[in-house]
Amino acid sequence: MDNCILELKKLFCCCAPINELKQLLQKIKEKEDGVISIDIQKKIVANTVNNILIKEYPIKYSYQRAFMKLLISQLEQNGDEIDDDVFVAYGNIVSLPEKDIHYRHFLQENGDLQYITIQESVNIISKGTTGLCVWQGALHLATWCLKNRSKFLGKSILELGCGVGLTGLSIINTCSPKRYIFSDCHENVLDMLCENIRFNLLSLQERISIDARLSKDRSKLHIKYSDTDVKVVELKWEDINKYTNEDSTVHDVIIGADILYESSSFYSLLSGLNLLLKPTNCAIIAATIRNEDTLNKFLSQLGEHSLTYLECDISEQSMFIESSQTPVKILQIFKKTEIV
Ligand SMILES: C[S@@+](CC[C@H](N)C(=O)[O-])C[C@H]1O[C@@H](n2cnc3c(N)ncnc32)[C@H](O)[C@@H]1O
Repeated sequence: MDNCILELKKLFCCCAPINELKQLLQKIKEKEDGVISIDIQKKIVANTVNNILIKEYPIKYSYQRAFMKLLISQLEQNGDEIDDDVFVAYGNIVSLPEKDIHYRHFLQENGDLQYITIQESVNIISKGTTGLCVWQGALHLATWCLKNRSKFLGKSILELGCGVGLTGLSIINTCSPKRYIFSDCHENVLDMLCENIRFNLLSLQERISIDARLSKDRSKLHIKYSDTDVKVVELKWEDINKYTNEDSTVHDVIIGADILYESSSFYSLLSGLNLLLKPTNCAIIAATIRNEDTLNKFLSQLGEHSLTYLECDISEQSMFIESSQTPVKILQIFKKTEIV
């Protein structure tokens, strides 16, 4: 039973689709011979809406309310006596106003259990960018990287269009790269990304001293975390040529999640990849397939930039959310080798 409650906590903390929590409540009921006892109800409330992490860094209130409504309706349908803790917890959140920013906590299960806390915007598109929330590709890419840890261990990684940083934080925690460079083009995205990096990689004391420095100059973050040199850069794909002129580092892997959604950006992205890729490295891109034609358009343009690709196997489930929403493909992109 405790495993089911922990699974419920994991799904709740990262705002997994509510239907998955419904299935888990059903499983808990079946394990308890059809009754969700008062004791189990107390555990459910303590591990979800009353959990200390959630109290301090709340996930969307609308999501918390939806979960409590689901729990109450399941208990009612089942004819179970409902514990006061359930009603009190629901009462505490029923009229809380939604904020512009909320948190999601992703449990990483790689030996130790560790949460990555991500601050994100309530809206999928806000301040003119898609980058202020975690996209599905980010979750799949993080899982793929953990399963292919040796490609990242002790290596230099550059992430393009990193958004709020979930994939990178997961790679830094689980794959110990030598260097990790987060990059994006949007000022608000970079600010929220810096918040997330500080929150997850620095102690409170370090955060305070870095905040003091950052408030004086607006330079982006550059810190050492364990074995990894972590840096944030403002990088527009259109400007990758300037970037490679100023910094000639050849990164072992270039990664990107959900960056293939707008065909108008393909030319600059592919020209940039052409400059960043050498015969010795590769790019790993997670693409959520909302429109097969968009992906095909991207793939058909690879050749014009002397690039080619392989599709990677992702038969295994996601580390964070076992979700079967829209399919995701992981592409490994290489420089085309010239046959002499
Ligand atoms: C759909 S979001 C994905 C964010 C993150 N990778 C994830 O999966 O959660 C696309 C990201 O690409 C960035 N982006 C879009 N066009 C860009 C460009 N031309 N240059 C650099 N970044 C860009 C956006 O700012 C945004 O953060």
